[in-house]
Amino acid sequence: MTDAELYARAVAAAQRAYAPYSKYLVGAAVLTRDGQVIEGVNVENAAYPLGMCAEKTAISNAVVAGYGPGDLEAIGITASPCGGCRQWLHEFRLERATFLHDGELITRTVEQLLPDTWEF
Ligand code: THU
Repeated sequence: MTDAELYARAVAAAQRAYAPYSKYLVGAAVLTRDGQVIEGVNVENAAYPLGMCAEKTAISNAVVAGYGPGDLEAIGITASPCGGCRQWLHEFRLERATFLHDGELITRTVEQLLPDTWEF
């Protein structure tokens, strides 16, 4: 699967987002190292801070399916990942993320998105 195809899966997933408050639909699709694609969408809540980003639900779905740090290769996202999601990408040791930025589909390494990471 190419990064562009992974991004296309994120675009399709975004239609299933639950975003009645912002009306900003986000989709994410994670590619596992064994070739599976696992999707996520943003899931909002009337208590706004309780909402979940699409990247986090995709990675959480991957964890439920049995994957962990090092098992996830790449992610396609319909938006540039927020700062918190960049930390999630780092936590799960993804290599790269593909997303739309200023109308252009770009791929960045997670190292580029979050340099000089903090380690626990
Ligand atoms: N959102 C994501 O799903 N991922 C991001 O990286 C940025 C923001 C969602 C959260 C909220 O539901 C909506 O976009 C507007 O902020």
